[in-house]
Amino acid sequence: MCGIVAIVRSTTPEENGSESLPEVLISCLNKLEYRGYDSAGIALGRVEEGGASLVDSDTKRPTIERFRAAVSTRSLEELKKLLEPIAHTTHAPTGNYNRGIGHTRWATHGRPSERNAHPHQDCSGSIAVVHNGIIENWRELADELTATGHHLESETDSELIAHLIEEETSDVDLLEATRRATKRISGSFAIAIMDANSPNSLVVVRRLSPLVMGTGKGICMTASDIPALLGLADTYYVLEDDEIAEISPDSIRVFDLNGDTRELHPILVSWDISAAQKSGYDDFMGKELNEQPTAIKDTLLGRVATNGSLTMDETRIDDDALRDVDKVFVVGCGSSFHSGLIAKYALEHWARIPTEIDISSEFRYRDPILNSSSLVVGVSQSGETMDTLRAISLAKSSKTKVISISNVVDSSITRHTGGVIYTRAGPEVGVAATKTFSTQIIALQMLALYLAQLKGLLYPDEIKTILEQMRTLPDLMQIALDRSEKVLTVAEEIASKRDLFYIGRNTGYPVALEGALKMKEIAYLRAEAYPAGELKHGPIALIEPGTVVIAVATRGRLWEKMHANISEVKSRGATVVGIINDEDDQTASLVDYALFVPRTPPLLDAVVDIIPLQLLAYHMAKLKGFNVDRPRNLAKTVTVE
Ligand code: M6R
Repeated sequence: MCGIVAIVRSTTPEENGSESLPEVLISCLNKLEYRGYDSAGIALGRVEEGGASLVDSDTKRPTIERFRAAVSTRSLEELKKLLEPIAHTTHAPTGNYNRGIGHTRWATHGRPSERNAHPHQDCSGSIAVVHNGIIENWRELADELTATGHHLESETDSELIAHLIEEETSDVDLLEATRRATKRISGSFAIAIMDANSPNSLVVVRRLSPLVMGTGKGICMTASDIPALLGLADTYYVLEDDEIAEISPDSIRVFDLNGDTRELHPILVSWDISAAQKSGYDDFMGKELNEQPTAIKDTLLGRVATNGSLTMDETRIDDDALRDVDKVFVVGCGSSFHSGLIAKYALEHWARIPTEIDISSEFRYRDPILNSSSLVVGVSQSGETMDTLRAISLAKSSKTKVISISNVVDSSITRHTGGVIYTRAGPEVGVAATKTFSTQIIALQMLALYLAQLKGLLYPDEIKTILEQMRTLPDLMQIALDRSEKVLTVAEEIASKRDLFYIGRNTGYPVALEGALKMKEIAYLRAEAYPAGELKHGPIALIEPGTVVIAVATRGRLWEKMHANISEVKSRGATVVGIINDEDDQTASLVDYALFVPRTPPLLDAVVDIIPLQLLAYHMAKLKGFNVDRPRNLAKTVTVE
């Protein structure tokens, strides 16, 4: 997840303290490092005494100084080195730095490189922008801008913003030009803009991506998150969706996108830096599992055309070749394998393509039958899992079509496959996959829909409806997340148990597998998942009075058959926790503890139903005093066989 920061401050020495503006910007970006990044950059503006923009001695025009560093996790250190010659410039004869914008980039559009690092500039070099978010209509905008003579330097969607503003600046000020440009953009964004010709202010605007603001004596600043502002601001505000603000050292003017004035309301911030980096959560896993609704929204962005059809040219396989696909193999490990198991139902139901889901380390050695009509999809959030990389190499050597699904731009898996569908969940720090898992499901299901669209197996109306249903998922997930306290009370009831069984049918079975995996890896309990119909073929011998059985028993899932399975274990004395749809009193009456979730459209239930299971593992681990972010014996990325 990118981080942005923008600062404008007075040039009065008494108000500024001893730190130069470049130093302050770097320290703000340091405080956003936890968001993960692959490159970083800042742009600075100076003013002469009297407040006019400093003019470049060669071009005789006001100027912006830009510094960018990529590609490494040490980009900030590299950026610091670049800034060394000016780092201590507080009051120089060559003018004082009074404003700047900074960015840590987590690549989503275009690989990590200096060229793609922010800030981006327009053709004239007068405008500089930093952006966090995803511009959905970037393709159309890029075509329009190149047709009107703009030269786009990078592969990013963000650069377009600078050129859009440039198009508007001829007769209006930066605020108005940005307001007009914003109207042409769809998607999510938090943007900070600096104009060489506006020496005493910056402009910021947001929709869906976060942006907080802070003021102190002679300073006004804005950033993606509170930590960047701590220690500098004494009053904090949140800019709301579709609000635009002009900030200067002693004032903030806020408007909506129609140009009407808006009021800013201060917010109370009592976090220290460590709490703030986790958005107030105790740990990254808590933060990340709560980010799932936003992550899903980002996965869906930019892949739906205005007529409601899907566009997925990122597969880099031409339509005819995709139409020819007669078999899909999804390969992955752990949670990535489970997301494949869930997507199998959509791939077979919507796209009617026989689909096999394989654990990467098994696929590699089992001599799979692959040919040019097969499509192998490698799923890896990190993009670095050795077994999955090897499975992909095997597929490539068989001349099979290969794509990957990953959360990390330019990771190894993405370099080994022509096409990549990025999940855009933002960095995941906790070892247990949460938001990367749910976004993988959506990415795979979008691929299933896309194949169905190409093969003409679903009517455009049906595809539109399913996509609309997908867009309701973030709200339904939020409802499930808001019930965390109830899950905690159930966790308290079963906290002393050592053995747990998870059962489910249809997509409820891989959801059960994933729930059990979470319980094993962070709460260190023996948790085994079974297809509910398999119980009577063996595992039921293990059920005795007090054994805990967690049943994924939401509606679409052969619901009545699940009732029979619940009764089987209940009659042997099991304590049953049910994942049950709202208002399903019938199932609730069969179980000891009901964890309710909202009802979802067919095949789309996994991302909602998994939430109480993630929360259950999370609360159990915390009740036992375990570190949920760094469970024992596990690594976030498994780069060995
Ligand atoms: O980075 P990958 O998606 O390839 O990782 C695969 C597994 O190692 C991973 O899903 C692991 O199972 C998680 N810790 C599960 O929470």
